[in-house]
Amino acid sequence: MKLGLNIDHVATIRQARGGFEPDPVAAAVLATLSGADSIVCHLREDRRHLQDRDLVLLRQVVQTRLNMEMAPTQEMIEKALQVRPAVCTFVPEKREERTTEGGLDVSSNLGRIKEAVTALNASGIEVSLFINPQVSVVRECVKTEAQAVELHTGLFAEARDEQVRYHTLEDLRSASIAAAKLGFFVAAGHGLNYHNVSSVASLPEIQELNIGHAIIARAVFVGLPKALEDMRYLIDR
Ligand code: PXP
Repeated sequence: MKLGLNIDHVATIRQARGGFEPDPVAAAVLATLSGADSIVCHLREDRRHLQDRDLVLLRQVVQTRLNMEMAPTQEMIEKALQVRPAVCTFVPEKREERTTEGGLDVSSNLGRIKEAVTALNASGIEVSLFINPQVSVVRECVKTEAQAVELHTGLFAEARDEQVRYHTLEDLRSASIAAAKLGFFVAAGHGLNYHNVSSVASLPEIQELNIGHAIIARAVFVGLPKALEDMRYLIDR
């Protein structure tokens, strides 16, 4: 199973002082040397963490896979076409949210999403759709002709009792099976940490986990290579 590191959280610390440190580009290089399979970054409309300069430099230094999270807006599509990451993950974006809260509303935005997928694919950029883990939503994604889906693990990660944990994991299981059967590359992420990752990693259809906050939080104490190694161990086990 592949592990993508979301480096926005490094940029968040940098932006707290508005200076140069810590640099998410340095984090991407170190993470790659430490075995991360891809680097995930989210250029938000409000530029609250990642900056345009970061994206340009990341494209130059990330030799594995650069995954650019973005809202499917005209501005971001133009950015992606300039920078040409390996993959763009479409996420919904609300200005007031602290982090991405829910999956894409695919059916209400079908035309817009399909158009964006076509434009990016024409430049050799794959598209992944960040969606809630529901079979009906997975089916809707087929109409967009995207190559991948990323299942939102937030509800599972936030579950505080066994019943909810069980049901939210079952939703992830059914959605991942449906997505794989329909030919999508299947990723998952959001809120995964060292305590909950094993259950999601045990779902055979999921091919990639994208994790940010928990790894960067641990890296503050043990360093990024060790934080990645610890996560990799739990995923592989
Ligand atoms: N995947 C997507 C689409 C996200 O928006 C995020 C959060 O930026 C993540 C994965 C990683 O979430 P977390 O930081 O909670 O691990």
